Amino acid sequence: MTTLILPLPGSEALANNLLELLSAQHCACVTRVFPDGEHYVRVETPVAGRDVVIVAGLAHPDDKLVLLYLLARTLSDLGARRILLVAPYLPYMRQDSVFQPGEGRSAEYISSWLSGFIDGLVTVDPHLHRIGSLKQVFSVPAEAVHAAQVIAHWIGENVTRPMIVGPDEESRQWSKEVAQAIEAPLVVLHKTRHGDRDVTILTPDLPSDTDYTPVLVDDIISTGQTLVAAIRQLRNAGFPAPVCVGVHALFTQDVIDQLRSAGAERVVSCNTVPHASNAIDTSRPIAAALRRMLAADV
Ligand code: R5P
Repeated sequence: MTTLILPLPGSEALANNLLELLSAQHCACVTRVFPDGEHYVRVETPVAGRDVVIVAGLAHPDDKLVLLYLLARTLSDLGARRILLVAPYLPYMRQDSVFQPGEGRSAEYISSWLSGFIDGLVTVDPHLHRIGSLKQVFSVPAEAVHAAQVIAHWIGENVTRPMIVGPDEESRQWSKEVAQAIEAPLVVLHKTRHGDRDVTILTPDLPSDTDYTPVLVDDIISTGQTLVAAIRQLRNAGFPAPVCVGVHALFTQDVIDQLRSAGAERVVSCNTVPHASNAIDTSRPIAAALRRMLAADV
């Protein structure tokens, strides 16, 4: 039977791309918020015996996670065969360890909670650092799609003589794959985080040839302070205005202004979080991962 695709409010654009790429069918659903702030959910398309893919943009996640839970439980009660989640941005993954006494491991808690009511997950470049793989924290099939190839393609088309720059060691996994794909040089900077909005970046290994366009590639742009610090260092070292590429755009317009004031030429992101900076489409690799998951009889 044809797969059904059900977008959470705000995720319609990606859901429409997936509908087309997978020749799937839209799953109609009504959601609204009661005057007291609680969610109402009604699924209108018959789902019994069918695979349903919920497409959920989960930036600023807390409220959306409750709606997602109610939808998944409703689909299950209505007899859906499998409930797969496409969450291009997987939230809470940065609290992946106990950094200070008394903290919890939010990444683990959220992943195991999601595993309790979905049958599979497709996400894009989750923040896997101290947790090495999604298998460690999800008990259902979970695939991490890499945006590196579509990012590399965009850079190849839009930037002259690029030099890929990872702002910190954690970004090496993305920046290295991008650099290799377009045979560009790679530099990984050293970051020390002192607080939510306070980071120091060191640039120990910059090439002496400053005739490259630096392209900063990071998984998440939130406060933008990581990139602001990196841009300043690159400009001080004599490089031209850098291009900034983020996979997940969690930032507000004032952050773009700060990045530009620091010396960025352009700020772009993937469409994993709907945002004015979206320029790189991840629909195809997401659709490919979904196809694999739908084909596996789990
Ligand atoms: C964390 O290590 C991530 O990879 C990003 O570098 C970080 O989340 C960026 O955050 P911000 O934009 O707030 O500096």
